[in-house]
Amino acid sequence: MYLKNTVPTPALHTLAPGSELAIQAENVSMHYPGSQKGALLPALAGISLAIAAGEFISLVGPSGCGKTTLLRLLADLLQPAAGTILLNGRPARQARLNREYGFVPQSPALQGWRTVLENVALPLELMKVSRAVREERAGELLGLVGLAGVRQSYPAQLSGGMQQRAVIARAIALKPSILLMDEPFGALDEITREHLNGELLNIWRETRTTIVFVTHSISEAVFLSNRVVVMSPRPGRISGLIQVDLPQPRRNETREMPRYFELIREVRETLRASA
Ligand SMILES: Nc1ncnc2c1ncn2[C@@H]1O[C@H](COP(=O)(O)OP(=O)(O)OP(=O)(O)O)[C@@H](O)[C@H]1O
Ligand SMILES: [Mg+2]
Repeated sequence: MYLKNTVPTPALHTLAPGSELAIQAENVSMHYPGSQKGALLPALAGISLAIAAGEFISLVGPSGCGKTTLLRLLADLLQPAAGTILLNGRPARQARLNREYGFVPQSPALQGWRTVLENVALPLELMKVSRAVREERAGELLGLVGLAGVRQSYPAQLSGGMQQRAVIARAIALKPSILLMDEPFGALDEITREHLNGELLNIWRETRTTIVFVTHSISEAVFLSNRVVVMSPRPGRISGLIQVDLPQPRRNETREMPRYFELIREVRETLRASA
């Protein structure tokens, strides 16, 4: 039996009772092997988080607090030492086998010997989709991320921002209901990053995907998210949850609103208080 896929009452954190849940983590902990033989390095402790379907959630916290570890646990690329993780009401392993999520890793790699189109079509190829159908679908995805003009280029011919867009197109190729993104825009300049933030929000709205987004940028987290999860280190835990009550859809003018700056201050103070 799987747990019921709705928020219990009282709701975990700030979700409305009855919301359909995309992700449930209950009391999750995780450790890595330490440098001494037999020693364990605690990476996460007591992580409980409920994310409603269609939410955009950001994870922020200092380097080493366990953001990547948490994302990899949700993706079933790591196993928790304790606790349960459900995606769409199913164990993370089942969700991985069903390809219910797309994953954008912290250091994304496109395959250098494949064209951009062939890279984006790769998940479809693995699913044995015919060449004509996958090329059509990959072409549509490249249009969605503004890369229609470079479909026959190779990754090395693209800028960092363009490569990142191709990785996002590949991650959504199988129309996952959940998108897990680990600092996807971390290496980009501010203007490119703001532009891609807008494109990502368009994709989010069009596809109604649930997004879990790791970032070091407090302003990026506030701009994009419904809620910001603040994590603290040693071991990694959730030290704050900030509801972002800025109007939707977010636009460039959102970045000028007094409430935007207040929320940035709130996230920063929560981070400081828990460091
Ligand atoms: N494969 C590993 N083996 C041992 N320890 C690890 C491993 N991966 C991560 N760690 C440790 O677990 C902790 C959390 O690492 P994690 O990569 O999840 O942090 P992070 O919040 O993503 O950091 P960053 O913001 O720098 O990407 C760190 O102390 C790190 O050293
Ligand atoms: Mg990381």
